[in-house]
Amino acid sequence: MRLGEWGTKMTIQELEYFVDECIALGLVDFDHADIYGDYTTEADFGRLLRQRPDLRQKVRLTTKCGIRLVTPERPAHTIKSYDSTKKHILSSVDASLQNLGIEQIELFLLHRPDYLMNPQEIAQAVEKLKIAGKIKHFGVSNFSASQFELLHAFTPLATNQIEISLTHLEAFQNGTLDQCLLHGIAPTAWSPFGGGKLFSNNSSPRIKRIQQVAQKIAKRYEVQVEQILLAFLYKHPSQIIPIIGSSKINRLKLALQASKIVLKHEEWYELFEASSGKEVP
Ligand SMILES: NC(=O)c1ccc[n+]([C@@H]2O[C@H](COP(=O)([O-])OP(=O)(O)OC[C@H]3O[C@@H](n4cnc5c(N)ncnc54)[C@H](OP(=O)(O)O)[C@@H]3O)[C@@H](O)[C@H]2O)c1
Repeated sequence: MRLGEWGTKMTIQELEYFVDECIALGLVDFDHADIYGDYTTEADFGRLLRQRPDLRQKVRLTTKCGIRLVTPERPAHTIKSYDSTKKHILSSVDASLQNLGIEQIELFLLHRPDYLMNPQEIAQAVEKLKIAGKIKHFGVSNFSASQFELLHAFTPLATNQIEISLTHLEAFQNGTLDQCLLHGIAPTAWSPFGGGKLFSNNSSPRIKRIQQVAQKIAKRYEVQVEQILLAFLYKHPSQIIPIIGSSKINRLKLALQASKIVLKHEEWYELFEASSGKEVP
């Protein structure tokens, strides 16, 4: 999301270096969406894959559809809305395949729950796409537990990509992680560092509390603060997979090492309390 127009605006050479370095670290999953960079970032990545066809076999690509953004890139969109109709899903997959210059998307997600979604219609679209070999797995993002349960009854969902971090604790309490455990599905966590807010110098009392506790624990383990922020996610038994948004290879290396840190129960609750501002009931 942040590699193109909505972030670091990498040149194709910078992107090539970044992707090569990620692969060398064993980080082979790249998270896209049709809308990133106002509908431009998939095509940026696709230019790299066309230039370096050897990369295709080394990466796994996720992309998403379902949000219709109002942007000069889509003059027909008059209001921001969600669309999970069969027609929109099928045409979005074709557009993403074309932009990325690939034959199959490893993981295709509905980006947001469409309040008008018809689970039968979505399942039909998914079946058609799987039979055609255009997508390998299907999942959702930002779905509530009930929305996930509904769609999962019609077509198997591979993940729910939700916001989880010390700035967003809802998933621990609203049933979405319980549901992943129940179905044996690993949740993916977007903005695991709160989109960078957890590193802000000029931050709210809440962020300051989190930073203080995370610093104290980091010192104890002789690691970096960001590793403790990730260890907080790794501690949950649902095996949360964080989607790291950093464009810096040294930060990705640190993130990888964080999976080895096992926080104590009380340390986890100390971080939770620092975020919520009160002890658990
Ligand atoms: N499904 C959805 O609705 C949804 C929504 C949002 C995002 N996403 C996906 O989730 C991915 C991750 O989200 P995100 O990018 O918000 O995640 P994030 O990892 O929480 O935030 C990344 C930001 O934090 C900064 N950062 C990381 N470590 C830092 C440090 N030690 N000090 C200072 N700044 C630091 C990064 O800057 P540097 O590049 O300088 O390191 C980057 O700007 C996105 O790329 C996107 O693919 C999905």
